[in-house]
Amino acid sequence: MKVFVTGGAGYIGTHTCVELLNEGYEVVVYDNLCNSSVEAIKQVETITSKKITFIEGDIRDTQAINKALEGCEAVIHFAGLKAVGESVERPLDYYDNNVQGSLSLFAAMKIQDIKKIVFSSSATVYGDPKFLPLTEDHPLKATNPYGETKLVIEMILRDLYNADKTYSISILRYFNPVGAHDSGLIGENPQGTPNNLMPYISQVAVGQREHLNVFGNDYDTPDGTGVRDYIHVVDLAKGHIKALKSLEKAQCEAINLGTGNGYSVLEMTKAFSVASGKEVSYKISPRRNGDIASCYADTTKAKELLNWRSEKTIKEMCEDSWNWQMKNSKSLS
Ligand code: NAD
Ligand code: WQD
Repeated sequence: MKVFVTGGAGYIGTHTCVELLNEGYEVVVYDNLCNSSVEAIKQVETITSKKITFIEGDIRDTQAINKALEGCEAVIHFAGLKAVGESVERPLDYYDNNVQGSLSLFAAMKIQDIKKIVFSSSATVYGDPKFLPLTEDHPLKATNPYGETKLVIEMILRDLYNADKTYSISILRYFNPVGAHDSGLIGENPQGTPNNLMPYISQVAVGQREHLNVFGNDYDTPDGTGVRDYIHVVDLAKGHIKALKSLEKAQCEAINLGTGNGYSVLEMTKAFSVASGKEVSYKISPRRNGDIASCYADTTKAKELLNWRSEKTIKEMCEDSWNWQMKNSKSLS
């Protein structure tokens, strides 16, 4: 089966391409490289000893996608902008890229009569949790423009399915993806100062940054710092293969991809120090605007519908992040 992967040159996209190729799928990556490089695609080919068809293009270009989609049977849709803070400053860019881009992709899929899609959503659609662990039927509420774009795209997909029950749609709500492929050839490569915890910790450990700012230690959590459900990106990638396989049957399902376990900022910092053998200095700083105390998944639905569960431990998440950071710190600095 030939699978069309938008945003396939990015962090989660490259790891998913590895799993797709290992499972024998043909892969077409469509990416405008606004947050990635073609090098990453070459690394995926090195890891798997298989070829990817790469097309440089924007998802807002319906005509170009229409042409690129020819012969594909399913789509995995990763392409999008993902920085929460930036989305607050540049909301129009986020709605244009993420929402308009998705509409354009769905229009091209309609022309090509492709009705199978796996979509990258996010646990951010739950807003500030009213209860934990988060089940898929928890009320939805975005707290920033990035989250709004995910909610709108989810809604569009549900409406598509309601209008035509032959669609097969898997909406995957990721919790906090971290780690890297154990080859050290692909991983997360944030531009500038990292927004997310794990890349920041890695850069402190490798000596690129002086210390981690821990955003608040007065939350209602066991040690006062924020608690999240960190999931290894390779586990996440494998979840996409299971979701793709589940699309044999028409459906529209939103499914959490997390481990079900919450770890605090200080626990993550400690685990990273042990994995890397480096001290990770930190200072307690004020809370970051918009942050919540705790967030972790109920993973029952993923187990039941996809027969998927995460396998990798926090230790492996830290070791693989560190391995990637060590192998790439020169080119990243
Ligand atoms: P990423 O930035 O590494 O990958 C996204 C890819 O999409 C990049 O290669 C980028 O060049 C491409 N892209 C962006 N806009 C495009 C456009 N208009 N046309 C074509 N290509 C375009 O991000 P990622 O971490 O791999 O995230 C993948 C998806 O998962 C995103 O939709 C993101 O919102 C979602 N997600 C990510 C996280 C996370 O923490 N990483 C969590 C939840 C959801
Ligand atoms: C984790 C914890 C911070 C950095 C974000 C998006 C979400 C999703 C995943 C896309 C929190 C603390 C962080 C630092 C810190 N992305 N922290 N110092 O905020 O859970 O989720 O990425 O969909 O939408 O909002 O992840 O890694 O930024 O933060 O103390 O320098 O680490 O306060 O408790 P978050 P994160």
